[in-house]
Amino acid sequence: MEKTKEGWIEERLELQPIKEALLDRKVPRALAGNIGWFYTLGSATLMTFVVLAVTGIMLTMNYSPTPDHAYDSVQYIMNEVSSGRLVRGIHHWAATAMVALTFLHALRVMFFGAYKYPRELTWVVGVLLFLLVLGSAFTGYLLPWDQKAYWATVVGTNLAGGTPVIGDFLLKLLRGGDTLGAVTLTRFYSLHAAVIPALIATLIGIHLFLVIKQGISAPPKLARRARPAVPGEQR
Ligand code: HEM
Repeated sequence: MEKTKEGWIEERLELQPIKEALLDRKVPRALAGNIGWFYTLGSATLMTFVVLAVTGIMLTMNYSPTPDHAYDSVQYIMNEVSSGRLVRGIHHWAATAMVALTFLHALRVMFFGAYKYPRELTWVVGVLLFLLVLGSAFTGYLLPWDQKAYWATVVGTNLAGGTPVIGDFLLKLLRGGDTLGAVTLTRFYSLHAAVIPALIATLIGIHLFLVIKQGISAPPKLARRARPAVPGEQR
């Protein structure tokens, strides 16, 4: 082993196989020269999640999830906290970007046939991730506790209340009672800042494990062209 700093660390931690699995992955021969921007959408989604986690933690330092203080604490973040307006703005736009990017990534996976065998589980975990991302956007919307947030949540929870059979139960579960109030705000804050991010992080871990384990797929058309032709096959 070389007598360098990297060599010293490698000799003790043996990180090379991990680096190879994470960063030096092979792509299918059929994809050579055909990897493009579409394949960056998953990683872009991942980056928005990291940005949201960091800016979200920064916001929790000054936000107060009670009806008496929520609105004022957001005004405080916007007008008094150093760079508060910037951090809140980044959190807001990263949230919008994450919803759009998750959707576009799912579209790319669908149009490229990447959901097929053996990647069905990656797709199913992806669908759960998409639902959680929407849940995160919905619960975050109430937190500023202004008129727009309040009435949007009244409408949103009413929609959930319209679910057949379990509607009434869902409505009460989300609101913490019959009407929107202090318990709703606390519940939404807990979901938005703790429960949903923890679930998203766990599922992203499983999603990426599957992506790394199975490798990236080639679209069926390119994969077909890359293998020897079957006699009489049209390409
Ligand atoms: C938080 C949301 C998500 C993150 C962070 C994420 C991340 C990623 C990354 C980094 C990749 C590998 C690179 C790429 O193909 O872009 C990937 C692949 C994949 N994702 Fe996602 N993803 C998310 C949501 C979804 C959704 C909503 C679906 C489908 C409903 C999905 C299905 C898949 C599938 C099937 C693959 C394998 C693609 C292939 O082998 O070609 N993902 N994901």
